[in-house]
Amino acid sequence: MAKGEQKGLGDELFGTRMGEFRDASGPVKGEFVPPPDVSGTEEIEEALPEQEEFWRAPVRFGSIPVDREPLGWDGRRGFRKWYPQVMLPTQVVERVSFGHPELEPNRLFWGDNLHVMRQLPSESIDLIYIDPPFFSGKQYNVIFGDQNELRSFSDIWDGGMPGYLIWLNARLYEMKRLLKKTGSIYIHLDWHAGHYVKQEMDKIFGYGGLSGNGPGFKTEIVWQYSWGVRTDKRWNRKHDIILFYSRESEFTFNANDVREPHLLVAESSKQLIKYTGSLTHDRKWNKGFDESGALPTDVWYIATINAQSKERIGYPTQKPEALLERIILGSSNQNDVVADFFCGGGTTPAVAQRLGRRWIACDQSRVAVAITADRVAKLSEQISLEQASKTFTVPDFTVEHWGIYEAKRLSETPPDQFRQFVLRAYGAVPDNSEAGIHGHKGAIPVWVGEPSQKSQVTAQDVVNFANAVRKTPRYQQDNLRDGIMLAWAFREDAVQAAQQLREQEATDLNFIRLDMIRIDSLQFRQHVSVLSTADKADYSTFLTFVMPPRVEVGWKKLSGLTYRFDVSETVVLNAGGKIINVQWDFDYNGTFTSTQGFSFIRNATKEPALLVDYTFPATGQYRIACKVQDDIGGEGLWTGRIEVN
Ligand SMILES: C[S@@+](CC[C@H](N)C(=O)[O-])C[C@H]1O[C@@H](n2cnc3c(N)ncnc32)[C@H](O)[C@@H]1O
Repeated sequence: MAKGEQKGLGDELFGTRMGEFRDASGPVKGEFVPPPDVSGTEEIEEALPEQEEFWRAPVRFGSIPVDREPLGWDGRRGFRKWYPQVMLPTQVVERVSFGHPELEPNRLFWGDNLHVMRQLPSESIDLIYIDPPFFSGKQYNVIFGDQNELRSFSDIWDGGMPGYLIWLNARLYEMKRLLKKTGSIYIHLDWHAGHYVKQEMDKIFGYGGLSGNGPGFKTEIVWQYSWGVRTDKRWNRKHDIILFYSRESEFTFNANDVREPHLLVAESSKQLIKYTGSLTHDRKWNKGFDESGALPTDVWYIATINAQSKERIGYPTQKPEALLERIILGSSNQNDVVADFFCGGGTTPAVAQRLGRRWIACDQSRVAVAITADRVAKLSEQISLEQASKTFTVPDFTVEHWGIYEAKRLSETPPDQFRQFVLRAYGAVPDNSEAGIHGHKGAIPVWVGEPSQKSQVTAQDVVNFANAVRKTPRYQQDNLRDGIMLAWAFREDAVQAAQQLREQEATDLNFIRLDMIRIDSLQFRQHVSVLSTADKADYSTFLTFVMPPRVEVGWKKLSGLTYRFDVSETVVLNAGGKIINVQWDFDYNGTFTSTQGFSFIRNATKEPALLVDYTFPATGQYRIACKVQDDIGGEGLWTGRIEVN
């Protein structure tokens, strides 16, 4: 697509996936995006490159074993052997708008990226950048400390390098499937695992051919910095490795957008360069000196984020925007789709938005997603204000949850959507063609209760459903007598009614066997937990429901315009949970965008700060908002007014 042309994300990303929820501009808050059709999911969708010439061993060595496949690959099931497919709907908990709802929204996911990616359509993304946890030990990598993050790390660090590589390979494989033919991927690593991952990438994407211009490997970029302690015992490690691969041999690359300053030449010596052009490594040297800079190389010096950086959010692995800017400018065009499936504090989506790209981001930490949403919202508001000077408009973005759902929001959903969600989550298919029946699990009719968590199924509901089942052809012709009722709760009389229907089996041919399953029970999530035990993957948190914390805010005046705010009275409603992050917006206008420096605040012991001091710019009345995340995944919002005098 030409630069500057505005196009909706959903044309590629929702188009084949939205099913019954599709409308011109993607899903709205409270809706669900159903998973794609699961048929054929055991088939391998994306073949590995053959690369015969690369792997050929000289005959004189006989048949020495050569491992051509990435670690963990199974010829029949791919990486699904270790990580079975789990298809679940995503819950759209937020749609943040910047005045262009007609455009398909960008997407921010909270969930395990492997499973989120498996639900996205093939060949839909132009550029992927990832900065996965390095192979450098568990503690260093724990950034946010929430339970989902910790669980993911026990998955990654369960063993040495092989465990890490299999975990990453399963994800790299999906990324290849998602890339468009002209797309490319950057993988940010360091000395711990960089060279091992390079070998795996060569097997998944290709080694680039002997010329280096074929599909797969293109460049190993060295990101050089000066940050960190130094030793006099060895050469100091002051660079990260960024592996750059293209999916095919033809790919998007905008060398002119990422030219580098000419090195080794003073302004006055341009004439000299004409004759010793190799100094600039610029193939254009013989046509004259290019004022806009030298063609780009693979060693980049970019300063790390320091305590004074305006873009600093406050957690250790945040990458500089300048780094992402270089990658995004070099490997995508305006309106291309840029994705980061380990988005952390949202550097990639923020820069993608600033440069007029569409984006997809994902993280399995609830806090990371909250920080990213806040960062992009703030930036997008700013861009929208400066709109006149921009060649692009800012689409909305959705915040979508995969696998862990907010029960309170679910219970506020319109009944039709709620039922569709419950059926999809249960692995059933919605179907309204028979009165009194909402869908089917295999051939078994399924009925779903009301959205409100306070609602309870009654004896009358049971009788009505039994009658509906009796009218079905399967009951009348095939003698199929089963039915499933899914609901938050069942009243005692409902349980008894079902019991009576079942007991009739001995005496009455009209009997019905009804299974009554609570939505937040183990039985409901059985199809997920079965996968978990069968394949030893830890899916123990998939398909669970969380409650938002009840946020309580108190404050007192310290002096002048400075006030102290306190959230320590907040009640976490998820069993065993604790507060993990607090964000503040001291100038709330209806869209939460945290005040600079109040998105990820830690006290001296790295615990979330429950007390914060803020100095207002002037006296007057202010609307303020506070968001609290707990370590299970609940998030609560409090809003109020304060008179500053
Ligand atoms: C090194 S940080 C990324 C930092 C990011 N580049 C930035 O500039 O803010 C790695 C992130 O990967 C996330 N992560 C780890 N395992 C994940 C998984 N399976 N799915 C999604 N995110 C994951 C972590 O929660 C963490 O936020």
